[in-house]
Amino acid sequence: MTIQRSTTQQAETSTTVEKKKISIFNALKEATKLGKPTIHSKDKHLKDIVHDMCFKKSKEEDFKAFYLVDLSHVKRQYLKWVGLMPRVRPFYAVKCNPDKNIIAVLKELGCGFDCASLNEIGLVLNMKGKTLNPNDDIIFANPCKQIDHIKYAKSQGVTHCTFDSSNELHKLSRTYPGAKVLLRLAVDDSKSICRFSSKFGVPFEDCEELIKLAKDLKLDLCGVSFHVGSGCTDANAFVNAVKDAKKII
Ligand SMILES: Cc1ncc(COP(=O)(O)O)c(C=O)c1O
Repeated sequence: MTIQRSTTQQAETSTTVEKKKISIFNALKEATKLGKPTIHSKDKHLKDIVHDMCFKKSKEEDFKAFYLVDLSHVKRQYLKWVGLMPRVRPFYAVKCNPDKNIIAVLKELGCGFDCASLNEIGLVLNMKGKTLNPNDDIIFANPCKQIDHIKYAKSQGVTHCTFDSSNELHKLSRTYPGAKVLLRLAVDDSKSICRFSSKFGVPFEDCEELIKLAKDLKLDLCGVSFHVGSGCTDANAFVNAVKDAKKII
């Protein structure tokens, strides 16, 4: 996460700046209650905090590397999402940045979590703040899971899991018979910086066979999952993936 101030922003009136100062402080205050951000101040503008860190603290003898996160930006992005797509609940992929303060702010806002491992599930469940409902608020979105991680998910009541192979379905039916499973579909990720479909996902033409197997194994097949790749530059990739998902459903 970066902190950027454009020239237009610099020309803001003092009232706007004051308002921004307050909202940043509120977001930090929220996180202080839940996690432990290392820097927060109600009297200082963000710019001054950055300046202090870079030019004053760096001269201290025990100075260590640091990074700055504008938690109010996380909050703004979440509110933007739910405002623009009120019927689509975001599930934050913990792997992107498992920072406790980010998780704490998102948890407080009512966000769901996409977890890829036992550690990530433990992190979001054990974070202070609102109590999560593991059945609704977490998806174990790793299509190839370790057995002890599946057992942990089961013990914590995390029911939604993704799969993209017959092996995973057999594993789930043995280890977690009541699991609610979502088929991870391979989609066109050619317009993305970081591509995943060579590693994860079932090609569209192979879905029918796996759906049949999920049914035979009496797993609760409840949805489709896909990832167009990270840093996707083409909105059509989402449109086409949703269309394919619709066909499967
Ligand atoms: C299921 C799932 N969700 C989310 C992510 C994170 O992707 P992004 O960095 O594009 O948010 C990944 C990446 O591996 C993933 O496999």
